[in-house]
Amino acid sequence: STAKIILQPIEKILTKELRRHFSSQNKKHANILQTQKFVPFIERVEMRRAEAKRSIIVQVQSAQSSKELQSYCDSIGTVQSMFHYTSGVEPLHFIIVEFEKESDVKNVLQASSQIDHIEETMAVPTQSHFLWFRASNRKLTKLKQNKSTKLLVQNGTNIVGEDEIKEMLTNCETVSDQLKKLHKITKLNDVGTRLRFLTAVQVEDALSGIFPNARAFPFGSSVNGYGKMGCDLDLVLRLVNDKKDSKDSRLIFHCKPVVGSERLVTQRHMETVGDLIHLFLPGCGHVRRILQARVPIIKYHQQLTDVECDLSMSNLTGVHMSDFLYMMGEIDDRVRPLIFAIRKWASAVGLTNLSPGRWISNFSLTLLVLAFLQKPLNSPPILPSLNKLTSLAGPKDQYVLDNGITCSFLRDLRKLNTKTQNTESLESLLCEFFAYYSQFDFNTKAVCLNEAVSITKPEHTAMYIINPLERGLNVSKNVSLDEVERFKNEVRTAAWTLESQENKSRNWGLLSILESKKRAVSNGSINSKNNRLMEVRALFDKERQEANFQETNSKNLF
Ligand code: GTP
Ligand code: MG
Repeated sequence: STAKIILQPIEKILTKELRRHFSSQNKKHANILQTQKFVPFIERVEMRRAEAKRSIIVQVQSAQSSKELQSYCDSIGTVQSMFHYTSGVEPLHFIIVEFEKESDVKNVLQASSQIDHIEETMAVPTQSHFLWFRASNRKLTKLKQNKSTKLLVQNGTNIVGEDEIKEMLTNCETVSDQLKKLHKITKLNDVGTRLRFLTAVQVEDALSGIFPNARAFPFGSSVNGYGKMGCDLDLVLRLVNDKKDSKDSRLIFHCKPVVGSERLVTQRHMETVGDLIHLFLPGCGHVRRILQARVPIIKYHQQLTDVECDLSMSNLTGVHMSDFLYMMGEIDDRVRPLIFAIRKWASAVGLTNLSPGRWISNFSLTLLVLAFLQKPLNSPPILPSLNKLTSLAGPKDQYVLDNGITCSFLRDLRKLNTKTQNTESLESLLCEFFAYYSQFDFNTKAVCLNEAVSITKPEHTAMYIINPLERGLNVSKNVSLDEVERFKNEVRTAAWTLESQENKSRNWGLLSILESKKRAVSNGSINSKNNRLMEVRALFDKERQEANFQETNSKNLF
C-alpha cells in the first residue's frame, strides 16, 4: 500500500546521488535544499526530517549567547550550524542548534537528563529536543577566543510587515517584478521550515516508546511550496510502519484489540493524543479537539516554535496532494509567485478567511490557479494534466492507499521531458487569470485538473472542483452560491482594475488589487492571522502561568 511505500526507511527511497550526499556530509545536504535543482518531494521531506532529528532548540537570554552555547555543545558533539529566532509578543529568544549527527543530539540529551532543577510537583519532567541554556557558575575561561561562530541566521522568523511589503512593491519596476518580490519576501524560509519539522518530530519522539515507528508527516502549505511565513502546520500522525521485511519474522507482536468502528477508534485515539500533547509536551498549549469533523483533527499551538498545528490521523491523501501541488510548483517558476499573489488578493478582498466556512479556501483557490495554468485562454499550457503525470508514473510512483485511493503519478520531474512553449510574463498571467474566471461558467462546469479541461458538473453545487486524487469528491463543496457570485464579481473588478491602469499611480500594479475590503462575516468578524496568534498566545500565557512552568524562569537563562 502507499503507506507502506511512503514509510519505507529513507535509505530505500533515496537516489544514489542523495545517498552519497547523506553519507558524506550533511553540509552538502543543506546545499541541496537551498539549490534550484529539483529534489522529489519525499526526498526533500526526508532530508528535512533528518535535519530536525539532529537538531535541538535552546531557549537563551539573547542571540549573544550563541558563542557560549556553541562552545558548550561542541564539547559534547559537533555543531554544524545555528539559527536564532524569537517567539511571542514579549519575545523569548531561541537558537536552533543543528549537529552533524543524530547521535550528537542523543549525547546532548543524555548529558541534560539529570533534571535537578525540577520539582516534580511543579512541572512534568519531560525530556525532548526543547531545552534551555542556564547560566553557568563557572567562569567562562574555556571559551576559545578565535573560534568562528556557526550562527548563520539571526531573527530567522521575522515576518515582513504590511507597510514594508507595500513599500517594496511600490518600488518595483514592473508588475511581474512585484509578483516575484511578494513571493520572495513572504514565503516560508529555511528557519520556518526547520521549526515545523522540529514540531513534527516532537510528537513522533513523544510516542516512540510505545510506537517506535510512529511518524508525523507534515503536509499542506508548510511543505508544498505555497506556505507563507507564519503558516500553520498540517500533520498526519501514523502509528504503524508496515515494513515489508518484518513479514518473514516468526515472532509477532501482541497487539491490543480495538473495539468499535474505525472512525470511533480514531476519535478515541486522538483524544488520548490530545491529552498527551496537552499534559506532557513542553511548549504545547491551547489544545482543541475537533473530532466530529469529516477528518477529525486536534489543533494546538506550539509556543516554543510559534507554530499553530492541525494534527490528524487518517488523512494520508493530504501528503500525496502536497506532493502533487509541490510538483506543479516545481514545473515552472511562475507558478508559485502567481499563487502567492492570488492568495494575497483573495485575502485582501475578503474572499478567503482563516476560519473554514462557506467561502473558498486557500486550497481550492490554489487548484483554480493550477487549472488555469493547464489551459490559459490565449497561450500554450504551462502545466500538464494530472492524467499525463499518471501515464508517466514508474514502478516507484505506484501508490494505492489502504482505502483504495490511487495516488500514482510521476514524482521525478527530471523524467518529464517536455518544456512549456508559454513565455508569458507573470503580469499577463495574472490579468489572464482574472479574465479566465470572469468568463468561467460555474453554473454548469466543474474544474478538473485530471483532464485539464472543464467538464459538466456531476451534481449541483455552487462551485465544483474535482478532487484530483479522489475524483468522487468536490473540494469546493463548502462554497455557497453567494460566495461564488462574490468571487465572480471580485475577479471582474480585479481584471478591470489591472487593465484600466495607464501609469504608475500611488497604488499601482499588484497593489491596486490588494486594497483591503475585508468585511464582517455572519459568524463573526474576520480576524487577521496576527490577531488570532495574539489570542492564542494570551491563552497560552495564561495556561503557563497557571502551570507555573519552571522553564519560564528566564532569569536563570544564559
Ligand atoms: P494554508 O494553511 O492556508 O496556508 O494552506 P494549506 O494548503 O495548508 O491549506 P489547509 O491547511 O487548509 O489544508 C492542508 C492540506 O489539506 C491542503 O494542502 C490539502 O492537501 C488538504 N485539504 C485541505 N482542504 C481540503 C479539502 O477540502 N479536501 C481535500 N481532499 N483535501 C483538502
Ligand atoms: Mg495549512
